[in-house]
Amino acid sequence: MKGIVLAGGTGSRLWPITLTTSKQLLPVYDKPMIYYPISTLMLAGIREILIITTPRDKQSFMDLLGDGSQIGMNFQYIVQPEPKGLAQALILGEDFLDGQPCALILGDNIFYGAGLGNQLENFTKIDGAVIFATKVSNPSEYGVVNFDKKGLALEIEEKPTKPKSNFAIPGLYFYDKYASGYAKELQPSKRNELEITDLNRIYLQKSQLKVCVLERGTAWLDSGTTKSLLDASRFVQLIEDRQGLKIGCIEEIAWRQKYISSEQLLGLAQKLLKSSYGEYLAKLE
Ligand code: TTP
Repeated sequence: MKGIVLAGGTGSRLWPITLTTSKQLLPVYDKPMIYYPISTLMLAGIREILIITTPRDKQSFMDLLGDGSQIGMNFQYIVQPEPKGLAQALILGEDFLDGQPCALILGDNIFYGAGLGNQLENFTKIDGAVIFATKVSNPSEYGVVNFDKKGLALEIEEKPTKPKSNFAIPGLYFYDKYASGYAKELQPSKRNELEITDLNRIYLQKSQLKVCVLERGTAWLDSGTTKSLLDASRFVQLIEDRQGLKIGCIEEIAWRQKYISSEQLLGLAQKLLKSSYGEYLAKLE
């Protein structure tokens, strides 16, 4: 299975911070935001990832992450000329996907929880589509799903005023090989975007939209506003300080998954030794 990280967009809720740089390059505590969604895909066992960026920021992402070979991954990049919606990722990524299923993750979504990798690995062989559901106290601010006992989606609503459930849909989606084809059939919404909800509705109408409830201990954070960005940084700091383990450390995951050797890990650490991040890599065992 291949992965796509959506790291384009306007980031207008973070203006003026994002007037000259990408939201997904901003720090969430001790590392760039994009490390978190990349690490989620890596935990699901995905090694080939397409990163979708704005024309302005493509080079910065390439400077940061390269072709991925340093951590045993394969990163490719494609520009989204304008932020025309999340579902456009599947059209832009059609050649990259080459008829294979994919996991799509939003570049500002952070997932953290025990056993998450194992849970996600189950979806890499897929028939139809899988979305996730996580309980929130303010469902009206999100896409909301309700589903039957077997976990088949019954209805999805975008930011409903009267939500029919408390389950929000986080920004991680697994699709079979037909997703790019379906995405091409979509019409732009009122806000002139190809909506991921509309793509999901195509699967829903075919009774092929499965819903997986994220385990209670799994945290889902997005970092698209000044408050949520600071909250995410605080969350990561708290967990990392308590446990002495890092969240979203892509070099560590690569090493634990045996994509790189201990020598290679040490080589990566050497370059960053002036920071606590580099020190952490050097001390991993
Ligand atoms: P949003 O947070 O919905 O949009 P945004 O990042 O442009 O921010 P704002 O609402 O503050 O203007 O996007 C969710 C994620 O998807 C985020 O990581 C950016 C990315 N994205 C794209 O890559 N392309 C797009 O066309 C859109 C709409 C979002």
